[in-house]
Amino acid sequence: MEKLEVLGANTLNGQVRISGSKNASLPILAATLLSDKKIELRNLPKVKDIETMLLLLKSLDTKIKYLKNNKSVLIENNKKNKTFVSYSLVKTMRAGILVLGPLLARYSKAKVSLPGGCAIGTRPIDIHLKALSKLGVRYKIAQGYVYANAPKGLVGAKIKFPKISVGATENLIIAASLAKGQTILSNCAIEPEIKDMVNFLNKMGCKIKWIGKRTVKILGVKNLDEVNYKIMPDRIEAGTYLIAAALTKGKIEILGINPKIIRTEIDILKKIGAKIKLKKNHITIQGNKKIKNINIKTAPYPGFPTDLQAQMMVLLCKADSRSVISEKIFENRFMHVSELNRMGAKIKIKSNKAIIEGNTKFEGAELMATDLRASVSLILAALTSKSKSRINRIYHLDRGYEQIEIKLKKIGAKIKRLS
Ligand code: EPZ
Repeated sequence: MEKLEVLGANTLNGQVRISGSKNASLPILAATLLSDKKIELRNLPKVKDIETMLLLLKSLDTKIKYLKNNKSVLIENNKKNKTFVSYSLVKTMRAGILVLGPLLARYSKAKVSLPGGCAIGTRPIDIHLKALSKLGVRYKIAQGYVYANAPKGLVGAKIKFPKISVGATENLIIAASLAKGQTILSNCAIEPEIKDMVNFLNKMGCKIKWIGKRTVKILGVKNLDEVNYKIMPDRIEAGTYLIAAALTKGKIEILGINPKIIRTEIDILKKIGAKIKLKKNHITIQGNKKIKNINIKTAPYPGFPTDLQAQMMVLLCKADSRSVISEKIFENRFMHVSELNRMGAKIKIKSNKAIIEGNTKFEGAELMATDLRASVSLILAALTSKSKSRINRIYHLDRGYEQIEIKLKKIGAKIKRLS
């Protein structure tokens, strides 16, 4: 089992180039099942979740050719795909459920493993299934699988999501793209990754239009075109490095990210005291000696992202007084708290609130990662402590951060991977 060794208390300075977005790549890869034409996808991040999704597509007989050291792929579904997705592929990567919509749209049937829970919550898919049934899908759940079919094919409908869900919005937009007639989806999630997926689908010949802040209209089409598409940059990776600069009071230039999609995070970091300069496609941040406290609530985009909650918690441990973070998206996304407390943090949990005392001096420790974003929060804390830390189970980290120790080393971190 690989682990990371971190020796901290140094300031991070230099340039970081942001990789392609994991959470845009996953729905876009799933959506390639809609088409029997050639699709080239560029700027895929080289992370485990993308490898798993490509393996999943291969298990459905998708033809995949890797180009340019795996950051680009050529995809083709020119013959009938299988429509069975096994538990072994979905259990480690819940986004596997995103192939349900495209398989039903193209083949009117699918047997897909239920995602199962993970460290941050139970990850149900009830919103996906209820909405799909409004497009004419009949389903049953047995032995941990969803058996779904649409005897008359998918037919467009008006659907209002009962709760904002990124995955359900993605699954339904993809499914409706080939449904007969028009579909209107309201109360949609509007994360930039969803907009990127819609841009990809429209470039492939779909007819999708945002007609309200959280309302989208989809006209089903019959034929799709060849497409060559570049995936957007990863805003959560960018936010992580912004927080790292504020935490270590360094100066970091973040290249290849449009500041508009992380407006909320930038505004919060400015309130905390960081100096930030914005350009069209890059951000320069200078951490401040004094870190002011602030209370934060996670929320669907454009609110503060739950995927940056653990990282922000580490920064607020260093603030000049108490802060409170309310986690409003997932029911159990405080797994990093006990590990941070073992490093000397003073964080108390009261239902979905974390009360964070400031002025923490993190000490190095033997640590265990529990989920993707929690793992990176342990690295951030370790970067500020004078003594050595070892972080185990870093396979969680490798699911979503491309070459993190290489990028961190380049800006001055003392970090190495031990196999
Ligand atoms: C996506 O997960 C992201 N994953 C998550 O990022 C992110 O944290 C999350 O959106 C919220 O922004 C990908 O994009 C691959 P949801 P998703 O459906 O789609 C409940 C990471 O670290 N819900 O918006 O699963 C659900 O339990 C990952 O990159 C239902 O109740 O999130 C949660 O409490 C972690 N029923 C809330 O809604 C459903 O049918 C939001 O979930 C679906 C969701």
